Amino acid sequence: MFENVPRAPEDSVFKIGRMFTECQDPLKVSCGIGAYRDNGGKPLVMDAVKEAKKRLHESPGWIHEYLPLGGHASFLKGAQKLALGDELYAEKSAEGKVGSLQTLSGTGALYVAGTMYSKFSPVKKALISNPTWGNHNAIFTNCGLEVSKYRYIDESCMSTPKLDLSGFLEDLEAADEGTLVLLQACAHNPTGVDPSEEEWKKVIEICVRRKLVVLLDNAYQGFATGDVDVDGFAIREFVKAGADIFVACSFAKNMGLYGERIGALHVVTNNEKSCLDAVSQMKIISRTTYSNPPQFGALIVDTILSDEKLYGVWKEQLTVMSERIKSMRGALRSYLEAETGTDWSHITKQIGMFSYTGLTKEQCINCREKGSLFMLETGRVSMAGLNEGNVERVAKVMAASIKGE
Ligand code: LMR
Repeated sequence: MFENVPRAPEDSVFKIGRMFTECQDPLKVSCGIGAYRDNGGKPLVMDAVKEAKKRLHESPGWIHEYLPLGGHASFLKGAQKLALGDELYAEKSAEGKVGSLQTLSGTGALYVAGTMYSKFSPVKKALISNPTWGNHNAIFTNCGLEVSKYRYIDESCMSTPKLDLSGFLEDLEAADEGTLVLLQACAHNPTGVDPSEEEWKKVIEICVRRKLVVLLDNAYQGFATGDVDVDGFAIREFVKAGADIFVACSFAKNMGLYGERIGALHVVTNNEKSCLDAVSQMKIISRTTYSNPPQFGALIVDTILSDEKLYGVWKEQLTVMSERIKSMRGALRSYLEAETGTDWSHITKQIGMFSYTGLTKEQCINCREKGSLFMLETGRVSMAGLNEGNVERVAKVMAASIKGE
């Protein structure tokens, strides 16, 4: 059997991580994988997470039993409230129009949503942005969908990436009714380019009018602006517009719980029956794929979301983290402008964990080989890898690679 199995290509994000680990240069910089680092370049366990773990350790009213198929009930309520905001949550939950499944982080939520759509939608087409997170295409292809792309970044100015709003809207307008449209709720990966609130309203109007099936990938709520409500804008506007939607949520970035694989898939429907039916099918998908979800991450998130004080501690630190990233954007931009004499304002206009620098593949390889700067070959830099100690050098390495030095 195994002699006939061909070698799969290495995942682009994890490949850069491996190369970084293998690199012996003491000045190496990791801007590949999207994982937060503090100003000393170290991974961060958030204060609220430390406190939640302490409480769980000291008074375990929990044991290592299986969670129910749908997941941890109180965690799910908290996750719904976070995604929808207090008012919409109160309204939709009272009407029985919001339901959820605990998932293996955001990726698991996307997989369950894609599988559910593939099983029950008469149309089997998914539309994702060009470009998007490398895994989106593979996930929906695995779900048996025909995947195509909508325009997102203006191709006439690839060295200073910005939104191609008219292309984006035209492609949504042209999609077949019933197509699954993947939209990133905030902090677009890999570009850092988000629609403004006015632009979102145009997107929402088309999706609702053209009866597209919306799946919001909500991987960075609170991480983009530091404010969970501002980052929840698109989700909440879709719900207010009366759309049936899927929302795939991750707590990897906003709580730094990367390895705990904790997330949720929410559905917001137009009546209680479809909500119950949808969740029943989501549970079957989970059961037949990995049975039921892991417990520990759900306990941590639930402890934070259900305690007012801890929730406040968490939100405060989110602001500090997103401010640190914003200040790194400012620093990178000024050093790059000083080094190259050209405009790098796109770096500070972009938002969230990533910046789409506009560097070509060759320039990115050059950065890695000559300057030990590890970024994706698409030009994506994880801003979280920058700090006061390395940002000037990173700008110098980037500038040298642009000049072909
Ligand atoms: C990234 O894009 O770097 C992260 O979302 C991590 C991943 O799984 O790719």
